[in-house]
Amino acid sequence: MGAIIRASVKSPSPSGLRAFNPRRDMAHVADLVESCFADTLDEGGRYYLQRMRAGSGATGLGAWFGWLTSLMSAPMSGYVWEQDGRIVGNASLIPVFANRHWFYLIANVAVAPEARRQGIARRLTQQSIEHARQRHSKSVWLQVRQENEAAITLYKNLGFIERARRTAWVCDSSYIPPNSHPETNFAPVNARHWQQQRLWLLRSYPPELSWHILFNPTLLQSGLAGALARLFTDTYLVQWGAFQNERLLAALSWQSMPGPTDVLWVSAPPSLDEDVLLALLLHIRRDLPGQRSITLDYPAGLFGSALHQAGFIDSQTLIWMEKKLA
Ligand SMILES: CC(C)(COP(=O)(O)OP(=O)(O)OC[C@H]1O[C@@H](n2cnc3c(N)ncnc32)[C@H](O)[C@@H]1OP(=O)(O)O)[C@@H](O)C(=O)NCCC(=O)NCCS
Repeated sequence: MGAIIRASVKSPSPSGLRAFNPRRDMAHVADLVESCFADTLDEGGRYYLQRMRAGSGATGLGAWFGWLTSLMSAPMSGYVWEQDGRIVGNASLIPVFANRHWFYLIANVAVAPEARRQGIARRLTQQSIEHARQRHSKSVWLQVRQENEAAITLYKNLGFIERARRTAWVCDSSYIPPNSHPETNFAPVNARHWQQQRLWLLRSYPPELSWHILFNPTLLQSGLAGALARLFTDTYLVQWGAFQNERLLAALSWQSMPGPTDVLWVSAPPSLDEDVLLALLLHIRRDLPGQRSITLDYPAGLFGSALHQAGFIDSQTLIWMEKKLA
């Protein structure tokens, strides 16, 4: 008997699955995503939802302007699950170009609490994989919080494999750092250090894991090329290095961003002494404008002690998973 009930619960009507229609569904999907991620939404997540809703609700010229703005940041394709005329499930598809390849990221996988454990998320994810396969994508990626065992199990069973773990750090703008370490030697980095700095940066921010945080090494480059790139993109940058006998040990770059927070990039070898990074973090913080919070995305497990001592809080660690497509 138990088996019969389970079988019927496991087979939601296939008519429930349909392609996401951005114009019609955006606001409903934003509501669903907000309710399903309520306890984990950070500032970036709230900003993202705000962008998703920008085109919905308004009328006339305002609607078109909002719609055009939202096109630039909101998901444009994916699948939803409808039950009794209401959207109860969603999976968004974001095409990404990185490392000279197109691939898809599956995001916003969410199912309303009353519709869970009926196989809806599995169907939405499978359909999203199929969508990517039909468009000759070499692989599909997704990100999941490391505590979210339900979703991790779902994705592993669909063939996704863990590729990386990254922690998002947030630094409150009101934090006042204690005195710096006077024994460490700090100076602005210049074009002479760029090759070394670039190498460390690309190791810590590989393109397939950092496109979403708008990592653009050209904007960090010292010298004319970087200065021009910053001029044309209206980017403000503060950059310092820690040195020992003129040898670069590590560099930090603070970059102004259009979203709700600014960003800090760390260029350092994984073997760097954490005290050096701590001293550099405290040093650069004194030079920053200070009214906005700063985020830092970095491989999980690295420099946690220095970042905590410099006033950063680890807001979340995400597992990046990939499924290769034939
Ligand atoms: C995670 C979530 C999307 C799952 O949706 P769902 O429709 O209930 O999932 P499904 O019914 O398709 O489950 C598929 C498989 O996932 C796993 N799973 C799903 N929910 C689970 C739970 N609560 N506990 C343990 N495993 C779970 C199981 O392996 C399940 O297979 P099974 O039912 O044969 O055991 C849903 O719980 C949700 O929206 N959570 C909040 C938002 C979220 O965390 N999204 C994922 C972001 S990466």
